Amino acid sequence: MRQRRLKDLDEKLKELEDYLDTDGRENKGAWRRLFADKAINASWEITRMLYEGVITEEEIAASFEEPDSRLCLEIGCGKGQFLCSRAADFPDDLFIGVEGQESVIVRAAEKVRDSGHWNIHLLSGYIHDVHEFFEDGEVDMIYLNFSDPWPKAKHAKRRLTHRSYLAAYMDILADGGRIEFKTDNEDLFDFTLEEVEAMGYNIVQMTRDLASSDLESARYRTEYEDKFIDQGIKIKYLAIEK
Ligand SMILES: C[S@@+](CC[C@H](N)C(=O)[O-])C[C@H]1O[C@@H](n2cnc3c(N)ncnc32)[C@H](O)[C@@H]1O
Repeated sequence: MRQRRLKDLDEKLKELEDYLDTDGRENKGAWRRLFADKAINASWEITRMLYEGVITEEEIAASFEEPDSRLCLEIGCGKGQFLCSRAADFPDDLFIGVEGQESVIVRAAEKVRDSGHWNIHLLSGYIHDVHEFFEDGEVDMIYLNFSDPWPKAKHAKRRLTHRSYLAAYMDILADGGRIEFKTDNEDLFDFTLEEVEAMGYNIVQMTRDLASSDLESARYRTEYEDKFIDQGIKIKYLAIEK
């Protein structure tokens, strides 16, 4: 039975390979180039212009270096609802979603395929050292949405907002880049605040009731966020800028 399930999963992963990678390390420093290729594949108009020599592939890749085209990373993207809703409102942004559970990322990849957003790319696997995947300064936004709380003190280093993770995020962020963190979990939020303050990072937005705020982040909900809000749980949110 288990073998059958894994076989189905492997087939799904193969079927969805245009939308996800099982390893993204080879794209380190070249993520914008990957998105340029995705844009070319997705657009008949760009293909026509390339064919007619109106534009070159280098010019297309360069257009993705523009400051209005932010490279955004979500770590633990779940089933992809957050990425799809942001991609709909920010078509110039480029989104990378990483998710460790294969059965979950398959659902995200199906959502990305059905949404038609070429500007989302998914990575299947747990990411621990972001330096392996991104050059320093390559990323503009990092989203940590409802990260696993790891409640036991002895597991504190596994929390995605532990200071060792935060320091690595800061390395890969461009100047002026931003980390946004949302959680239902009071303890994880307090822990994160302590870590951010201990590292001296610059908190630019914070609330303990995101849904009642007029912050932009309240408009882009994740699957977990929908469930917590339905249960009357307040969402805690903070944003840090480099
Ligand atoms: C509680 S769920 C939240 C999912 C989604 N962000 C949401 O809010 O609906 C946390 C997810 O993060 C994933 N995850 C945790 N650590 C991760 C890591 N280091 N790299 C990739 N995914 C991770 C887990 O597999 C899980 O699906």
